[in-house]
Amino acid sequence: MKISILTLGFGLLTFIDSTLAYPGIRNTIREIEKRVAQTPPDGNNDGSTPPVLIGDLKNGIRTPVGQTIANILLKTESGQSSEAGYTPPIIGSKKCKQDTCCVWWYVSQALTIIFKGPSGRCNKNARAAVRLGFHDAGTWSQPLADSGSDFGGADGSIALSSDEINRGENNGLQDIIGKMKIIKATFGVGMGDLIQFAGIHATVTCPLGPRIRFFAGRKDSSKSAPNNLLPGVNDSADKLIQLFQDKTIAPHDLVALLGAHTTSQQFFVDPKRKGEPQDGTPGIWDTLFYNQTMGTGPLPKKVFRFASDIVISQDSRTKSEWVQFAGPGGQSHWNDDYAHSYIRLSMLGVNNMNSMTECTKVLPAAQSTFKGAGELLVEE
Ligand code: HEM
Ligand SMILES: *[C@@H]1O[C@H](CO)[C@@H](O)[C@H](O)[C@H]1NC(C)=O
Ligand SMILES: *[C@@H]1O[C@H](CO)[C@@H](O)[C@H](O)[C@H]1NC(C)=O
Repeated sequence: MKISILTLGFGLLTFIDSTLAYPGIRNTIREIEKRVAQTPPDGNNDGSTPPVLIGDLKNGIRTPVGQTIANILLKTESGQSSEAGYTPPIIGSKKCKQDTCCVWWYVSQALTIIFKGPSGRCNKNARAAVRLGFHDAGTWSQPLADSGSDFGGADGSIALSSDEINRGENNGLQDIIGKMKIIKATFGVGMGDLIQFAGIHATVTCPLGPRIRFFAGRKDSSKSAPNNLLPGVNDSADKLIQLFQDKTIAPHDLVALLGAHTTSQQFFVDPKRKGEPQDGTPGIWDTLFYNQTMGTGPLPKKVFRFASDIVISQDSRTKSEWVQFAGPGGQSHWNDDYAHSYIRLSMLGVNNMNSMTECTKVLPAAQSTFKGAGELLVEE
């Protein structure tokens, strides 16, 4: 019995070995890379700047997971997935340790408890987690990386460095960073992965939010990210568009990402109006934010619009996309685009995408309807 399993195992290894050694395989991989590079952008790209590869994928797509992430970055494959039905081994067991996704299932259970409010909407922890995902990953730029400073990005440094937590732009994130530290200590996961997982988990926790695919395997860093790479609320459209373009995030992708303000509240832009939301339905991932930022319809007094959102809603490079998200069919168009754009954001500064593992299957299910979604004002 033992012998036959061994023989089988050995046979399999020899088979894999000889497949890799087969000279044709390199050409095949090169052929796939070429084809992916030539794939014309699909409808989701909306005629904006064609998407580019980033990180290690620029130097070669070497694995199936690298291929999947490349397809998502180039928008030839969906950034959302409903893959589910995973039952993990017991936490702490040898089986669990051997299965990359196992621990994430347990982290997911913990996050559901802290992200879901009593009314079924996503709560303040979830909102903070979405913002945290952006503020950790957003501190990276392709031109800076090209000039030798390829650090920052989705590396956990917002929580692991000594000073990022004290930067003005990160005001309000201290509490969620504390919670991330506890979860990291409890489950022994990487901080860069945890922060992106939390952002993705929070998004699907919000009613109507997309179920964004999650890939694990980021390398952590405690080195402080470069300064001046996060946007300011009073920045001009030119400045904002350039800032995101430098992160390889095209104008239309910026419009999609800004929709995260559908769930948000402000505390520091105008402290006198502390806690005011950016649309009438905070905690619901609906498209009302796009309508209300345009200011064409009735606006509840409580809604606090950011100057940065207003200038992007009006700029000629971004306005048409903004109007589309607000209009009929906007929700599924936006969810599609947000998933693509968020995965790109969550991979900034990541240079080992070829060796990551997809663990989307551990996420909770998406919730595609909710009472009060899209209506003028839901009381918190
Ligand atoms: C032009 C780009 C952006 C600007 C200028 C901007 C600015 C801001 C400001 C000023 C706040 C309020 C902070 C406070 O006073 O408490 C805020 C909150 C928030 N932002 Fe952004 N943001 C931008 C892009 C993004 C992106 C790309 C995301 C996520 C993908 C995001 C997610 C959030 C969330 C979820 C909150 C709410 C946090 C909470 O309720 O605790 N933002 N943003
Ligand atoms: C943005 O502009 C407003 C209005 O002029 C001002 O009150 C606020 O302090 C500015 N905020 C920042 C961060 O510069
Ligand atoms: C939102 O804006 C779009 C496009 O302007 C419009 O078609 C739609 O009726 C608006 N919806 C609401 C709820 O105001």
